[in-house]
Amino acid sequence: MTKTVVISGANRGIGFEMVKCYVAADDWHIIAACRTPQSADELNALAKANSNIEIVQLDVADAKSVADFANTVGDRTVDLLINNAGVIGGDHQSLGDIDYDEWMQTLAINTLGPIRVTEALIDNVRQSENGKIVAISSQLGAMQYQTQGRFAYNSSKAGLNRNMTLLASQLRADKIAIAMYHPGWVQTDMGGQEADITPSESAKALVKCFDELTLAGSGKFFKWNGEPHVW
Ligand SMILES: NC(=O)c1ccc[n+]([C@@H]2O[C@H](COP(=O)([O-])OP(=O)(O)OC[C@H]3O[C@@H](n4cnc5c(N)ncnc54)[C@H](OP(=O)(O)O)[C@@H]3O)[C@@H](O)[C@H]2O)c1
Repeated sequence: MTKTVVISGANRGIGFEMVKCYVAADDWHIIAACRTPQSADELNALAKANSNIEIVQLDVADAKSVADFANTVGDRTVDLLINNAGVIGGDHQSLGDIDYDEWMQTLAINTLGPIRVTEALIDNVRQSENGKIVAISSQLGAMQYQTQGRFAYNSSKAGLNRNMTLLASQLRADKIAIAMYHPGWVQTDMGGQEADITPSESAKALVKCFDELTLAGSGKFFKWNGEPHVW
């Protein structure tokens, strides 16, 4: 039976590579959510060649956009929700040079966005026999990861992790598995070209992890290769 996956930030980077993985897997209907569908050239080209990709507008920080997105999904079952969309948060994140408006926007996208989208689609995921909700987090959100700077980004991912663990406990009774993943240091617009792995390597490994996720792993933080991540 065909399953449905929703991927936010599906037009480029890791999100776009995940779309490609689900197209190749064949038994998925892919709701590829992106902020500006009209300029998502590569995604539009892929969708033209593959009828199982449905492109839908979604700005995860915009309440109306999320509500419209949920209306488009309607009462369809969502088997897997991938909260991937994220931003690094701008150039003013060091002590003495903090842009607080930019920080608020980073929290709105990286921390509140996944919860906003999850809340809007929760009944769709509840309908699945094996519903899963995952978030692409970052090692920079881990307290035990030694790093300097980037207040906005690091705190946004730390907050995301906490919120996902709350979701995991609240949704355990519904048998929905929730997990967070550090995708590796990835060669995307965000990660830069010096990063360790390609978007394709990251996406393929993540998709395998999502496939293997069960309720036993719910509430946990993993690396892209399936190993546990420190908090
Ligand atoms: N690359 C790395 O090394 C790395 C490491 C750790 C974690 N991550 C995480 O991995 C995820 C994907 O990152 P990436 O490397 O693929 O970054 P990317 O290439 O910069 O892509 C980011 C994606 O998020 C979308 N996005 C940003 N704000 C959005 C919003 N308000 N609503 C909807 N979509 C929005 C972007 O859409 P637009 O094209 O419209 O901007 C784009 O599709 C992020 O959550 C990031 O924090 C990445």
